[in-house]
Amino acid sequence: MKHHNCFQQTLILPPKLGLRCLSWLMEDPMALPVITTRGNNVYGPNQFPEKLIPKFILLAMRGKPLPIHGDGSNVRSYLYCEDVAEAFEVILHKGEVGHIYNIGTKKERRVIDVAKDICKLFSLDADAVIKFVENRPFNDQRYFLDDQKLKQLGWSERTTWEEGLRKTLEWYTSNPDWWGDVSGALLPHPRMLMMPGIEKQFDGPADVKGMVSQPMTHANGPKIMVEGPKCNGRSNSSSLKFLIYGRTGWIGGLLGDICRKQGIPYEYGRGRLENRSQLLLDIQTIKPTHVFNAAGVTGRPNVDWCESHKPETIRTNVVGTLNLADVCRENGLLMMNYATGCIFEYDTEHPEGSGIGFKEEDKPNFSGSFYSKTKAMVEELLKEYDNVCTLRVRMPISSDLSNPRNFITKITRYNKVVNIPNSMTILDELLPISVEMAKRNCSGIWNFTNPGVVSHNEILEMYKKYIDPEFSWLNFTLEEQAKVIVAPRSNNEMDASKLKNEFPELLPIKESLIKFVFEPNRKL
Ligand SMILES: NC(=O)c1ccc[n+]([C@@H]2O[C@H](COP(=O)([O-])OP(=O)(O)OC[C@H]3O[C@@H](n4cnc5c(N)ncnc54)[C@H](OP(=O)(O)O)[C@@H]3O)[C@@H](O)[C@H]2O)c1
Repeated sequence: MKHHNCFQQTLILPPKLGLRCLSWLMEDPMALPVITTRGNNVYGPNQFPEKLIPKFILLAMRGKPLPIHGDGSNVRSYLYCEDVAEAFEVILHKGEVGHIYNIGTKKERRVIDVAKDICKLFSLDADAVIKFVENRPFNDQRYFLDDQKLKQLGWSERTTWEEGLRKTLEWYTSNPDWWGDVSGALLPHPRMLMMPGIEKQFDGPADVKGMVSQPMTHANGPKIMVEGPKCNGRSNSSSLKFLIYGRTGWIGGLLGDICRKQGIPYEYGRGRLENRSQLLLDIQTIKPTHVFNAAGVTGRPNVDWCESHKPETIRTNVVGTLNLADVCRENGLLMMNYATGCIFEYDTEHPEGSGIGFKEEDKPNFSGSFYSKTKAMVEELLKEYDNVCTLRVRMPISSDLSNPRNFITKITRYNKVVNIPNSMTILDELLPISVEMAKRNCSGIWNFTNPGVVSHNEILEMYKKYIDPEFSWLNFTLEEQAKVIVAPRSNNEMDASKLKNEFPELLPIKESLIKFVFEPNRKL
């Protein structure tokens, strides 16, 4: 196997989504040697029954109807799990680092035919047992992978469809209770969301609700939930249930407080972002209407940590974030993603003091730190997910002046500070707005800052006026700052007019600072 001498092992990552971005990171000497595999629909014993084949087998075993999303004409390439395991082994031993291998099969099957084959094995009348239900959002018509490159390594599919299906069925009939209570996973739409155009919740028994007698065409099916980067309708507050990632974090903790205050049912996710099955389990058990991602690697004591922990940063901020977005998409859920605006720096078209801020559609121009670099890459990829609302947070500030993460707390504790105007996010004002954005089903990219800019010295002057008249500080230049930090920091102005248009009551940064931070903390 060809790989760099200093690495003991090669990592094989089977991605469902654009993990190709990992290979972009290969330019970096700190990154891992990676072979990428692309898989198809794997099936076999032991699979969690949210997937089509085990779901249909278990339903057939229970005498329940087999629900087909849409008209069942969608085509999938099913590959038996042992063949896939062999493919991994072959790739591990014979694949080349940096290459991508498709693990596929040329034998495609329509979903309706899979259902019919399962009926045949159970001697069931397919016409009576198969029921057509509303199609699900984003139900792809076909995936097809060319497996030639893998075949050239000596791999080939060995299990016939008939044999694989029979073995799978035997395993489920011998282990009917292996997965415990999976009734939720066996529903026609296990986690149908509360999105515009998708009003129905299939939370009743699988054999009655949501069934229609005729196949639904795509035109008749539900509309895609979030169209374009905008706010699209309003969820009914009484039926909200938020799933929040980042329980132990600053923003995640504040979100929980807001939900409690507003009486919105919520739970924190237990899964690690990089672990797809844990995320799925969270969604299956919690059955959220919206997912909030306030999880991320931010570095301790600061983002310089990411410079020396690149794989860990990638794992959460790249792999994990994309993973969650993808799982949410598959489950028709909107993901509110607390991202960053630290992907821009002042440039000739947006000079400091000009009042010309970076807009939502502008391409990131700052990759001075590894943290920002990964965040910019992920933002670019997340644009392809219309179920994601990207909130570009910047230099967050809250009314809790004892929190070491608070920008004000940070700069009051530094020996010296630079003095540059920046766009910032007053969390006390903006986090409730993000909750409202979820209710309005907003998607796309949003500069998530208060309008305008404020400089370090202006904030410290306010601190002096409201909190401590004796407070004093020293400034230094960016060049001097560079000597005490590892990676450069971004300084910029963001154009918050899109957010202001949606929320006209949004305060300019200096007014928001006074109303939400300094007045409540006033000591003088
Ligand atoms: N604070 C800022 O200055 C700032 C600015 C702009 C944007 N943001 C972004 O906003 C988000 C939240 O920031 P924050 O300040 O609240 O961060 P934080 O206080 O550092 O909290 C991060 C949270 O993420 C969780 N987490 C980390 N890796 C995880 C993983 N692989 N799977 C699941 N959970 C994981 C942590 O849980 P564990 O402790 O269990 O790991 C923690 O609860 C981040 O994405 C950050 O980049 C923050």
